[in-house]
Amino acid sequence: MSLELVIEPMRRRHVKNVLNIENAVHPKPWSSGVFSSELDLVRRGERYYVVAFLMGELVGYAGSLYAVDEAHVTNIAVAPEFRRRGVARALLHALASEAVAREMTSLTLEVRVGNKAAQELYREFGFAPAGVRHRYYENSEDALVMWIHDIQGAEFRERLDRINATHGSRT
Ligand SMILES: CC(C)(COP(=O)(O)OP(=O)(O)OC[C@H]1O[C@@H](n2cnc3c(N)ncnc32)[C@H](O)[C@@H]1OP(=O)(O)O)[C@@H](O)C(=O)NCCC(=O)NCCS
Repeated sequence: MSLELVIEPMRRRHVKNVLNIENAVHPKPWSSGVFSSELDLVRRGERYYVVAFLMGELVGYAGSLYAVDEAHVTNIAVAPEFRRRGVARALLHALASEAVAREMTSLTLEVRVGNKAAQELYREFGFAPAGVRHRYYENSEDALVMWIHDIQGAEFRERLDRINATHGSRT
């Protein structure tokens, strides 16, 4: 069993443990049916989902959808007891690298305006705020829309390499 952080593609057999985290962290959690249909779309090349294992335990997951030349981060979460160990950074790095490999031109996501932890993580990757969707969550909290344009450029590739070099082995 690896003591290191291991990132691998999400499979149906992971969904039960993914749901434990999803139910614990999101106010409106996705159902197993949503994960199942997302995994169907992975097979069609329209989605990419990864899970993170620490010491054999599934501790986080993340995914993205592809729309023409844009990759949208759809979900990212880490079990509360395994936070601040670089798990989300490694998951996001995997999503970003895959988007580059698939020749997407940009990366985008929505985040609650009050979710400063996630915004801090996204800033590290170069996401910049581009606007606000009012009452996006539960018809009450606003969403900040964040973008990274030109993920094929040298600057973004160097950023990914730098993040990997600085934090790649941290668990
Ligand atoms: C946001 C979330 C995914 C971060 O997961 P994590 O594994 O703890 O994040 P990492 O350890 O990879 O953090 C990477 C960097 O992000 C920033 N960050 C993460 N959590 C932070 C916090 N609570 N406060 C401030 N900065 C934070 C830091 O810059 C951190 O680097 P550092 O630890 O070297 O300072 C996690 O808190 C979570 O699951 N939250 C609930 C679900 C959620 O909000 N998802 C995002 C929806 S848009």
